[in-house]
Amino acid sequence: MGGIHIHRPLISIIIILLTEFLVFAYSNGPPYSCDSSNPSTKSFPFCDAKLPINNRVRDLISRLTLDEKISQLVNGAPAIPRLNISAYEWWSEALHGVSSHGKGISFDGSISSSTMFPQIILTAASFDASLWYQIGQAIGEEARGIYNAGQAMGMTFWAPNINIFRDPRWGRGQETPGEDPLVAGIYAVSYVRGIQGDSFEGGQLKDGHLKASACCKHYTAHDLDSWNGYNRYIFDANVTKQDLADTYQPPFKTCVQQGQASGIMCAYNRINGVPNCADYDLLTKTVRGEWSFNGYIASDCDAVAIIHDNQGYAKLPEDAVADVLKAGM
Ligand SMILES: *[C@@H]1O[C@H](CO)[C@@H](O)[C@H](O)[C@H]1NC(C)=O
Ligand SMILES: *[C@@H]1O[C@H](CO)[C@@H](O)[C@H](O)[C@H]1NC(C)=O
Repeated sequence: MGGIHIHRPLISIIIILLTEFLVFAYSNGPPYSCDSSNPSTKSFPFCDAKLPINNRVRDLISRLTLDEKISQLVNGAPAIPRLNISAYEWWSEALHGVSSHGKGISFDGSISSSTMFPQIILTAASFDASLWYQIGQAIGEEARGIYNAGQAMGMTFWAPNINIFRDPRWGRGQETPGEDPLVAGIYAVSYVRGIQGDSFEGGQLKDGHLKASACCKHYTAHDLDSWNGYNRYIFDANVTKQDLADTYQPPFKTCVQQGQASGIMCAYNRINGVPNCADYDLLTKTVRGEWSFNGYIASDCDAVAIIHDNQGYAKLPEDAVADVLKAGM
């Protein structure tokens, strides 16, 4: 993997790490880095909250070995004790309330549950963007509370699901705001600004931190589980340029540009032959380039493995990993 450039996604990862572990420091509750009682952290510029975030990110990355960088790219990223960096769990869910379905949240402490709001398809039927925003705010508030109580190993929530719900046979349609690209986009902005804390101004983090991190998923043209002999792992969606531009891309573009979501998840399916997560045009040229996205891009669970195992797109498992990193995941 020597020739692969992984610094760009890493910068995004590190921003989240810094955000979660440096800004919120509690003596007993959450996992955090840069413990002021640890003498070694004082000498690290990345621990100096007064420095600009870019300098801190650059400093932290310069200290990581290649193996350490790679270790941070997967669920259950291990701690790096020599730098006093805590373990991090990327996978948490919060479609309509903080959920323990991912691995990042547990309800086995003083907080034993969270507020569950209605399924999105119902909430969306209100066409009330301020209601959507307030629900997002409540979810972000609870997420931060759970983290502060020491029951979260991460603050990256893989919601909202803004896929276009065109075919009622899709078993996850109720997770989405429906079939209308405009409504889906407005829903995305409301939810993301609510859960992240609405602290963006002019594309920049206003005060340097998020309340929680939202993730627009599943990018893109993904709207079936199992149908007509296809399943969602191998499905090759034949999408015209016009349908992509008119229907599937607008919610994601809005989620990134107006919502300032800090994450995107690439979907299992292929589009016109190319797996979403291995598509340089979709991830790097469009999302990072044209839409100026500056966050992290995660795969859906096992979406890298299936590029080799199920789709046969990559010859070797290593090729699948190289394909997605080069594409911008
Ligand atoms: C960070 O340093 C503190 C104080 O020495 C220690 O208690 C904590 O376990 C360290 N965390 C990690 C992840 O190394
Ligand atoms: C998409 O197009 C390819 C190539 O023409 C074809 O093999 C495949 O069956 C098509 N998929 C669908 C779902 O129609």
